[in-house]
Amino acid sequence: MQALDAYLQTHRERFLSELLDLLRIPSISADPKYTADVRRMAEATAEHLRQAGADHVEVIATNGHPIVYGEKQVDPLAPTVLVYGHYDVQPPDPLDLWESPPFEPVIRKTDLHPQGAIFARGACDDKGQFFMHVKAFEAMLRTGTLPCNVKFMIEGEEEVGSKHLEAFCQQHREKLACDVVLISDTSIIDNDTPSLTVGLRGLAYMEVEVTGPNRDLHSGVYGGAVANPINVLCQMIASLHDQDGRITIKGFYDDVEEVSPSERAGLNAAPYDEKAYCEDLGVGALYGEKGYTTLERTGIRPSLDVNGIWGGYIGEGAKTVLPSKAFAKISMRLVPHQKPDKIERLFQEHFESMAPPYVHVKVKALHGGHPVVVPTDSVEYRAAEKAMELAFGKKPLPQRGGGSIPIVAMFQQVLKANSILMGFGLDADNIHSPNEHYGLFNFYKGIETIPHFYWLYAEMKAARP
Ligand code: BES
Ligand code: MN
Ligand code: MN
Repeated sequence: MQALDAYLQTHRERFLSELLDLLRIPSISADPKYTADVRRMAEATAEHLRQAGADHVEVIATNGHPIVYGEKQVDPLAPTVLVYGHYDVQPPDPLDLWESPPFEPVIRKTDLHPQGAIFARGACDDKGQFFMHVKAFEAMLRTGTLPCNVKFMIEGEEEVGSKHLEAFCQQHREKLACDVVLISDTSIIDNDTPSLTVGLRGLAYMEVEVTGPNRDLHSGVYGGAVANPINVLCQMIASLHDQDGRITIKGFYDDVEEVSPSERAGLNAAPYDEKAYCEDLGVGALYGEKGYTTLERTGIRPSLDVNGIWGGYIGEGAKTVLPSKAFAKISMRLVPHQKPDKIERLFQEHFESMAPPYVHVKVKALHGGHPVVVPTDSVEYRAAEKAMELAFGKKPLPQRGGGSIPIVAMFQQVLKANSILMGFGLDADNIHSPNEHYGLFNFYKGIETIPHFYWLYAEMKAARP
């Protein structure tokens, strides 16, 4: 498609400068101090959709952050693509580990991104990625090459569990009716090895509170005679894994799908260099469930991690105190066919039952999400595969992503549509971490790939609806 290629070429610089402007807005959904910025980001996203040529663009209020919607109907007989993404970002801290401020985007070269990468919070997750769809849409519309109806739904609460999106989708089934959901919020293996994500892990996120004595105590006067809740919490947490790196919660693995040897072989066919992996992370060795490779541990096996732990004195210098309370945030990544509700219950029962008599524990569930598997025998998957092959010159490998996008399982249930997880980030792009970045190559490659998907999908659907 020459007209489209020419359009992309002509407007390259503008696309980038528009993205940089969006990256200057600190749309941190978790922190109420930024509510006005989140709103400003929603408005800016809506304005981009309007400018690109979408109709009926709205910033729809929820009980949380707004949802941005826009659409273009080209032909009632053409298939409809629902583009989902999120304009909210993770908090940027710890700030002192950023080499440049998180909301002042700059372009720097890295080993993996010799053509340069945009450094900013949200560059990859997910502003840089959802924005590729807005620009691909603009280019197709302006060059008269848009073959599908399009609906955009860009939300502002993905990073806090998409609390209000489910009700919104339930209430607006008709408005959101579509043939496929297209999402760029995942990664490829590397810039020479395209991949499509065919699975996402689910999530069960818990917070625990362990209380010992009814008040903080002098650690000399009482130390040795009264159990310290931080010590106890650490023991409890340590006991959640056994010698083989397996999770010890009773019943935890009951519903875990045993993946067939042939699918495991397929997953392990992806390029993976353990030494480079360790070096990138600065670790001397890897840790995980015995009997599984790294790609299996993050793709098809569940995991349990402490995300934060606190209690007692953490200020300057030494204060001698035997604290009354200790806390931790503990998340579990789930795989098919584990159910977040059941896992929350098993965790709670296990944690309460193992509490020794000298403490009491409170457990609460913060949020959850179901795991996802994307069928690979669908028209949409074949279109996505072919689109990536055309853009990269190589067939993409199917890959299971370790992260979660809780709303994807619901799209399947409520909208009865498969999702195509066509992300363009790299695992090493530092999402959720200081110095998040997104390669310029990846940004432009995404904009180039998306129209191929639309054309192929429309063609394949017309041939075999
Ligand atoms: N885009 C990520 C999820 C992701 C990243 C999937 C890389 C696969 C590969 C998403 O924004 C995210 O961070 N999700 C959260 C969900 C949570 C906040 C409910 C996650 O996975 O921790
Ligand atoms: Mn994301
Ligand atoms: Mn994220």
